[in-house]
Amino acid sequence: MILSIESSCDDSSIAITSIETKKLLFHKKISQEEKHSSYGGVVPELASRLHAIDLPNILEETKPYLDNLKAVAVTNQPGLGVTLLEGIAMAKTIAVTKDIPLIPVHHLKGHIYSLFIEKEEILPLLVLLISGGHTQIIRVESLEKMTILATSIDDSVGESFDKTAKMMGLGYPGGPIIEQLARKGDENRFDLPVPLRNSKLIAFSLSGLKNAVRLTIESLGGIEGMSEQDRCDLSASFQKAVKLHLIQKSKKIFKEEHIKDFAIVGGASANLYIREAYEKLCNQFGKRLHTAPLKFCSDNAGMIGRYAIEAYKKELFINPYKIDIVHTKKRQSGEML
Ligand code: KG4
Ligand code: ZN
Repeated sequence: MILSIESSCDDSSIAITSIETKKLLFHKKISQEEKHSSYGGVVPELASRLHAIDLPNILEETKPYLDNLKAVAVTNQPGLGVTLLEGIAMAKTIAVTKDIPLIPVHHLKGHIYSLFIEKEEILPLLVLLISGGHTQIIRVESLEKMTILATSIDDSVGESFDKTAKMMGLGYPGGPIIEQLARKGDENRFDLPVPLRNSKLIAFSLSGLKNAVRLTIESLGGIEGMSEQDRCDLSASFQKAVKLHLIQKSKKIFKEEHIKDFAIVGGASANLYIREAYEKLCNQFGKRLHTAPLKFCSDNAGMIGRYAIEAYKKELFINPYKIDIVHTKKRQSGEML
């Protein structure tokens, strides 16, 4: 069995996965969302303190499995330094005291492996990763060969939902709130710009759209001046512009990349409106669409454990005395993940 730990942002999570059957034997996650909600975003120091409390509490529940561990895995990049360190400290202690290998896991690769929890890998694969920190299209050929085909030049998809919700005085995380409001709204009421619509650039950008949302809110009289219907209509119009942007750029990549299997992963992949749009696009291009179950879209240790099974077979271990967080520099398109 592998014990895996995830603490890259505001979710404390630990999983136990069977190496042989790939089954998730234990999985628990304590989300801090409510604790950060009043601040309109994650407060790193608070997140770190909460991991220091929650991770040991979850670990205690894994006691029945601890004698059967073959390895321990932990997210060590990318993420908030002070929160990654909490998971790393726990993982290195377990690895040293039990004398078992330690597997460092790249969080985004973990998201990709959320597709294969309790399943076999599907490779090669094209992946759209939309999370709180990233928007990328990645060609996945193997565990080690993942190439970025398009990336964001400013705000990520999740971030743009969070900021839109914050500007309207709604809670955090903004994604699910905006998606719910949008269901009751008219997506054609506000004519928001589709980012990079007339640009040949195959990249993602959402800061201009965010600005257009801000101006619209101002024109409606600010947070106080907006009615419930205004909020629903603006959410729907915003979500539509994000969708059109993602689809337009994905289409360009679909014309070049002939891999049959396509997947959407990351926290924002829970958005059913975006999923529906990709279902249509995949049908049009004869691709198969894959998504993870909703509970595995946002951060969780199950996906870290699933990646770790493959890394274990390839002995991608790290010296537990030497493990540290990796400060990932922003990767450009054409680079490896
Ligand atoms: O993958 P994730 O849990 O954390 C990161 O790795 O960043 O993604 C969290 C992000 C948040 O920005 C959240 O607002 C967004 O995913 N999100 C959504 C939805 N559910 C979560 N965005 C759009 N629609 C949703 N239904
Ligand atoms: Zn994530």
